[in-house]
Amino acid sequence: MYEQVSHSLLNDILNNLKTEISKQDLRHFYTRLGANFYAIHSLFERLYGHRDDFKTQALRLVETMARQYIQRPDVYKEIDIERENNHNWFLSQKWVGMALYSNGFAGDLNGVREHLGYFQELGVNLAHIMPIMRCPEGHSDGGYAVSNFREVDSRIGSMEDLSKLADEMRLRDILLVLDVVVNHTSNEHEWAQKARAGDPVYQNYYYTFENRNVPDMFEQSMPEIFPENSPGNFTWDEEMERWVMTVFNNFQWDLNYSNPAVFIEMLDIILYWANKGADILRLDAVAFLWKKIGSTCQNEREAHLILQLLKDCCQVTAPGVLFIAEAIVAPFEVAKYFGEDAVIAKECEIAYNATFMALLWDAMATKNAKLLNQGIKSLPVKLERATWLNYARCHDDIGLGFDDSDIQLAGYEPAQHRKFLLDYYTGKFSDSYARGLPFGHNEKNGDARISGSLASLVGLQHALDEGNPQSTEAAVGSILLLHSMILSFGGIPLLYYGDELGQLNDYSYQEDPNKAGDSRWVHRPTINWDKAENRNMPGTVEYKIFSALKRMISVRKEIDVFADFNNRTLIEVENPHLFVFERYSLIKPSEQVLVIANFDGKPQHLDLSTVGRWATNKHARLVDLYSGFTPDIFKKTLVVAGFGFYWLSEVA
Ligand code: GLC
Ligand code: GLC
Repeated sequence: MYEQVSHSLLNDILNNLKTEISKQDLRHFYTRLGANFYAIHSLFERLYGHRDDFKTQALRLVETMARQYIQRPDVYKEIDIERENNHNWFLSQKWVGMALYSNGFAGDLNGVREHLGYFQELGVNLAHIMPIMRCPEGHSDGGYAVSNFREVDSRIGSMEDLSKLADEMRLRDILLVLDVVVNHTSNEHEWAQKARAGDPVYQNYYYTFENRNVPDMFEQSMPEIFPENSPGNFTWDEEMERWVMTVFNNFQWDLNYSNPAVFIEMLDIILYWANKGADILRLDAVAFLWKKIGSTCQNEREAHLILQLLKDCCQVTAPGVLFIAEAIVAPFEVAKYFGEDAVIAKECEIAYNATFMALLWDAMATKNAKLLNQGIKSLPVKLERATWLNYARCHDDIGLGFDDSDIQLAGYEPAQHRKFLLDYYTGKFSDSYARGLPFGHNEKNGDARISGSLASLVGLQHALDEGNPQSTEAAVGSILLLHSMILSFGGIPLLYYGDELGQLNDYSYQEDPNKAGDSRWVHRPTINWDKAENRNMPGTVEYKIFSALKRMISVRKEIDVFADFNNRTLIEVENPHLFVFERYSLIKPSEQVLVIANFDGKPQHLDLSTVGRWATNKHARLVDLYSGFTPDIFKKTLVVAGFGFYWLSEVA
């Protein structure tokens, strides 16, 4: 019955499509629309079915998909078909990513194009170029406050530069990842300007209120995201003479997705960037898409419906394009962004593994893997055709978002443990060489997060200041250890630009009034390419890190069991300093790799006779795939160097 409703609506819509659309060759489009329309209709109905203009909005939705399909360049249409035929292509271990700001990395988009050889030198074949859309001079939140969704920010280039970059990347088989900031716009965006000028159509693109009644109700249950710089979730706009919801900074206005016009605009923008050559779109702050009084306004059911609908519509127009969910939320919530109730991901194919990231930093600080082991157990199994983005650092702060119950199970008191981590990374703890900075300190509840470059957090800055070779070795070892984890865990590893060279904190942001209040800028570096030449000079820190990562990446690409098919088993061992897991093949049971990481600075031992099938093979020869060497084994006891790791396999 229900399907008939959706079919008859589809017929109506197709009959009503403007003639310039219906004249085109839309065979593939119609096939995909037919296949997805039932789902699209059901979702659109659930979100907007109560409205009088539902049918008109549904027509607009289909028109948007059709128009963007017509505009989609043939080269991308061919890639769509290739990827439909090989739909698990992105689960392969061959992908290794890097996230970067184009200006910090190489000046602008042309600079990035000129440095594509650098990615290939290192083995990176997926580049997340951080927000490139137009944003205000000052209040930009690093590009996440967009003032025009269809233009490239002139400070980093033009649409033509982007197009040249995308073409060149495609020729080199490097995937392009672009951001679409779906949750909010800058207050300088045209929609916000019109809302300010009093246009009710555009005021309804946002959540605006004439007095505090509704905002006060929301505030009772909404946490604060940037408590230091932008306390509260609403901002009074003088010009509009209304309160507007601003969950992040006060110049970032939250979009109102209960208005279907907003949904359709954003779908159009997503497809627009798909047509500009993005292979993957990173959807920013997706947990926040739906606001409900009485809730935290995060992870609401409707936020998931919106993402499912965006995905279904994208499948019709640009099916080769994947979504990354940027949802830095609790472990049991994050897996839902792959889609629920479905074998195949129906929301975002890829999600940031913030849980693993934060747990790795816990292990680095505590020098043991107790919480890491416990926390990974709470990480839900993901769907098929879905994968994690595994990272150690990114452009944002490190949030200590572990479950309190996991902290307790690991043997700590949650509040004290979080305080310890904060003190440790901000260098207040006597035993710590970390040079992090606090971020987002909330005076009301004592919460805070951590900024700092990877190298400075693991003590490289301290070691170099002291001129201490041993500490330098330990810091380099820690950098490699963290990367060995994101490269082997299962998922797409995402390096952060500069980390491959041991980039330290950059304090220059403190001189810039637009940045000074936001410590995340300390880890958004400008690469010094002369210094980066050191990567070719044996003995330098840059060389040690870069050459090791280069090797790690190329070895990863050869290890089939590192592809992500839910083929990992965590192995709990007695030695608390060690984190151990096994990667195996679903097709060839004889293929396995045992990954062992030592988070302590001193050598640790592992009794191999306690490690499942690795115990029984008395005569087998073990080899560490990364170094190519046989590891140190004394009787059945394996020795793992301080901050060392192994990717062990058996050779006949
Ligand atoms: C393609 C292929 C995959 C390729 C990728 C990048 O559809 O299936 O092997 O490397 O997408 O274009
Ligand atoms: C995301 C971005 C972050 C930004 C926020 C608001 O979390 O990663 O940098 O501040 O969204 O757009």
